[in-house]
Order: sequence, then structure tokens, then C-alpha cells
Amino acid sequence: MVILGINGEKRQHNSAASVLIDGKLIASVEEERISRVKGDSAYPHRSIAEVLSIAGITDRDVDMIALSNLSRWDQKPCMDRFFRQVARLGKTEPLIKNFYWKHQFERYARILRPRKKPAGILAQKPTQTVEHHQAHAASAYYASPYGNERIAVITLDGAGDLSWGSVWIGENGKMREVLHLPYLNSIGLLYSSITNYLGFIAGRHEGKVLGLAAFGKPEPLLSRLLAHTNQDDWNNLFDARLARVPLRPVSEMGMSVIKELCGDLSREDIAAGLQAYTEKVICDWVQKQARELKVTKLAVAGGVFSNVKLNQRILALPEIEDIYVHPNMGDGGLSTGAAFEVYARLQGGMRPELGQVYWARRSIARMRCRPCKNWGSAMKSRTILRRPQRVCWRTARSSRGPTGKWNTGRALWATARLWLPATTPASTNG
Ligand SMILES: [Fe+2]
Repeated sequence: MVILGINGEKRQHNSAASVLIDGKLIASVEEERISRVKGDSAYPHRSIAEVLSIAGITDRDVDMIALSNLSRWDQKPCMDRFFRQVARLGKTEPLIKNFYWKHQFERYARILRPRKKPAGILAQKPTQTVEHHQAHAASAYYASPYGNERIAVITLDGAGDLSWGSVWIGENGKMREVLHLPYLNSIGLLYSSITNYLGFIAGRHEGKVLGLAAFGKPEPLLSRLLAHTNQDDWNNLFDARLARVPLRPVSEMGMSVIKELCGDLSREDIAAGLQAYTEKVICDWVQKQARELKVTKLAVAGGVFSNVKLNQRILALPEIEDIYVHPNMGDGGLSTGAAFEVYARLQGGMRPELGQVYWARRSIARMRCRPCKNWGSAMKSRTILRRPQRVCWRTARSSRGPTGKWNTGRALWATARLWLPATTPASTNG
């Protein structure tokens, strides 16, 4: 069964496409790697073409399409819950009350817009959608090395499908939802907002803030942020004042709160306070989840887990024995997660080790190209499908015709030569 995973929603970022064949991840490509536009949010036409090409198949061979993120109308229950929470916070915070009346119609109107669908033959293929955090969780769980063990799967990011995080139990190749976290409490968006305040680019330079944190003192920002935080209730983690930040992270409504908290501090101290706050609040919560769910191993995904210092602190918790962080933990990994999840739905579960493409790729990394006898570049060969063909990228590329299109005859000859008797005269590069 061939499943094509796509992450390419408008207003999202890191568009990507993945191909899964019989539960094995064959290829996953982010649009930014082809378009050279960082975090490219354009529909991933080129990534789709590239992953199909790497897998050695065409769009006719695709059996099912897995789209990450809920379709618009499916978001309505999440939107209802979001505005109920906004209305409650608006009772004590006038700016949030204004937001409620100003943006309610516009946000609901977005639900009615149709989502972008694949073009050509792919438009006729059956499609399933996977919720944003379910796709993050699936990307981590089905690629994790824990087999059928009972583990907790945790996702945390800025926001996706009106949530900023979720917790799942993974066991025997299936995931069960435990909870979702409303995005009005998003520490990911708070981090991005302060990144922006420090003069960096939100959503791209959070790693620089993490590096800057090593040069500052966490106090007094840590105490100031904790004063606005209710750690006992993660559904209402931020009070009405601090909730203005995730609601409007880069506008005056959110920035005025950041200025209040950080206005008298140096950039280093702001970064250190923010990093210490993130580590403390999330580690305490992960510890509590691990105790309640009685698990010692975690699989995690979502942009927040690109914070390596946080991951290190989680691994050092006494309750945690091991942690698996999905290599593409950001939204670029959603296409992979959506494809895994749809495969698991169709099969009634999926053995986690099936998803481990990374080890499989590594095992052929030193394969030698038979026609040109080169080592190393064979890793890039379009070979991972069912049987390695051992044709390196350079040799395969020479099979393109003068128009740049694949010259099928020459490509077939390049491949067929591999199986001919040794007496056939060999020539390099087709
Ligand atoms: Fe995400």
C-alpha cells in the first residue's frame, strides 16, 4: 500500500511530502529544501514530485493521501472551545474581550474556506485528514525504537488546530489520546513572541535565544512569569494577562505584556529567564504526566522539543529512563506523521519499528554504485523501494535526455547493465 503524506495548509509553515510503502517510510522532503525559501509555506508540489521520484513510482501508484491538519469544518468544535475560553478570560481582561467581538466572525469564516487539494490524478485518490498534534504524535511514536512497550507520546509546539500540545499513550502499535492543551496557554508562542521582542525572527531564531540564555541570569524574569502561571491546571496555565501573548503574539496586545515583564532587563537576562521558565514548567508537567501514566519512556515531537536543553533536562528527570525525539520534530515532520497514522488506521495498528526508515537508510549509506564504481554517493540513489538498484545519483542523472526529462530507455539500460554477465563491456556514466 502506497500512502502519500502531505503537509501543505495555507497559514502553516514547513510544507512537506512523504511516501510510505507498506508501512515503511521511503522518502520525506520539505519544500524549503527545493525552493530554498526558509520555512516555505507554499503547497508542496515540488516535494510531492520529488518523493514520488525517489520512491520510483508515479502519482498513479498512490493508494491513499494523508493530509495533516483538520479540514476546516472539523475545526468547529475546537473553535467553539477556544472562544468559550476567550470569553471567560475576557471577563477580567478588556483587550481579550475586544478580541472576542472583533475576531470571532473572521475566525469562524476561515472554517468555510476550502482547503488546497492535490492536483491532477492525485485529486481523485481517497483522502484522510489527521489532526495536527495527532500527526506530530504519530511521527514520534511510529518511528520510536520502543517496539510494543507502553510509552507516553507528548507533543508541544506553538499552535496547530487550536491546540499547543497533546499527550497520548502508545502501546502495541496503537495510540490512545489522553489530553489536548488549548493554545491560549502556549509556551511555544510565548517563546516566539519574546524571540521577536529580542530582535530575532520568531519561528526561526529560537535557537539563538537558547544560546543567549547561557550568558544571563534567570531572575527576576523567571519569578515574574511564574506569578502569571497556574502550574496546577494546564488548561488554564496562563492568567488573563499573560494569555494576551499567545492570542496576539506580535501585535501590540501581546507585545505590551512582554514590555511590562522585560522592559528593564538585558537581552541575556531575558533569554535566561525565558529558558529557565520553559524548562521548569515543562519538566514539572512531564514529571507529573510520567507518574500518572506510569511510564518511563517518552516519544516526543513538536517545535518546542527542538529546544535541546529542555530535552536534556527531561532526560535527567528521575522518572524518565529514555526519550525519543523525532528527527524532524517541527511541522516538516507532519507529512510523515499523517502517513503513519493513516496506515495505522487502515491496518488496525502498526508495529512501531516499521516506521524506522532512518536506520534502513543508514545501512545502505556506504553502498557502491555498480556502473561507475563510486562509493558514497550511492546513498542518494533512488533505490530504497524494494530492492537496492545500486545506481548512484550521478549515474542516474546522466540518464536524463536533452530536455531534462527522464530518458526511460537509457535509465533502463543503466539498471539492466547491473544484472548482465560480467563480459558485457562496462562504460561509466551511461
Ligand atoms: Fe506543529
